Amino acid sequence: MRVVRSIAELRLALAGTARVSFVPTMGNLHDGHLSLLSLAAQAASPVVSSIFINRLQFSPSEDFDTYPRTFERDCELLEGAGCELLFAPPEFELYPQPQSYTVQPPAALANILEGQFRPGFFTGVCTVVLKLLNCVGPCVAVFGKKDYQQLLVVREMVRQLALLVEIVAGETTRAADGLALSSRNGYLNAAQRSEAPALIAELRRIAAAVQAGAGDWPALEAAALQTLERRGWRPNYVAIRRQTDLGIPHAPGKISGKEPLVVLGAATLGATRLIDNLEIPTGA
Ligand code: PAF
Repeated sequence: MRVVRSIAELRLALAGTARVSFVPTMGNLHDGHLSLLSLAAQAASPVVSSIFINRLQFSPSEDFDTYPRTFERDCELLEGAGCELLFAPPEFELYPQPQSYTVQPPAALANILEGQFRPGFFTGVCTVVLKLLNCVGPCVAVFGKKDYQQLLVVREMVRQLALLVEIVAGETTRAADGLALSSRNGYLNAAQRSEAPALIAELRRIAAAVQAGAGDWPALEAAALQTLERRGWRPNYVAIRRQTDLGIPHAPGKISGKEPLVVLGAATLGATRLIDNLEIPTGA
């Protein structure tokens, strides 16, 4: 695997390649990232990845400075997963001056759920993703469903700005106890790690109740929040939403094949904020 640090080197390395697939990352890779690389390899080659910890998507109170930087190990994992070219720019290469042009995603999609609790997060994500797509020029880019709202925000940016790239969604990779793999799981101590699957357990409980015909969805959401609080979490939201745009379902209380649903949750355990989601099968 070749590692390039500058946009010019990247473009030279990719000159003449027609069908590039791309997996952007912030490093500290795990099996979830590797499953995205495997999807990328099925879609097109060469497979290109990036490691760039994007300051623009962190608020001042978040973990930009302490975000795990594991470059050597990441390179080994990427190489093992078939990545041929890694773009790992220093910050001054991607953001040569303060990046004063930014992408402002629509409030209806970007200021809800994650965006409500992490103001500016999706502006930072869209700005870096647009810039990385411009640098790499892939025909396919793979994003994980673990960050469900990010996937939708990026898809909508690609659609509205008519970018010439197909966005492919990768399923969430989970540990045996259900915990979604995440770079931030490493912050959990042993006791928190054994408690962490409680978040997906609550989402699964809601999905099962909705499928079984439970009609009072706000009550299901409230019960999950209460359970998490009782177990020592500080939940931000648990919400049943439309898969298409994360809006509130048109007919809450009625599951229908016409309006596929997803249940999403975010909560902090100790000092670690975890997010997860589950698409609710309609059976239709
Ligand atoms: O999901 C991530 O790791 C990041 O948000 C991304 C897409 C690499 C942009 O920095």
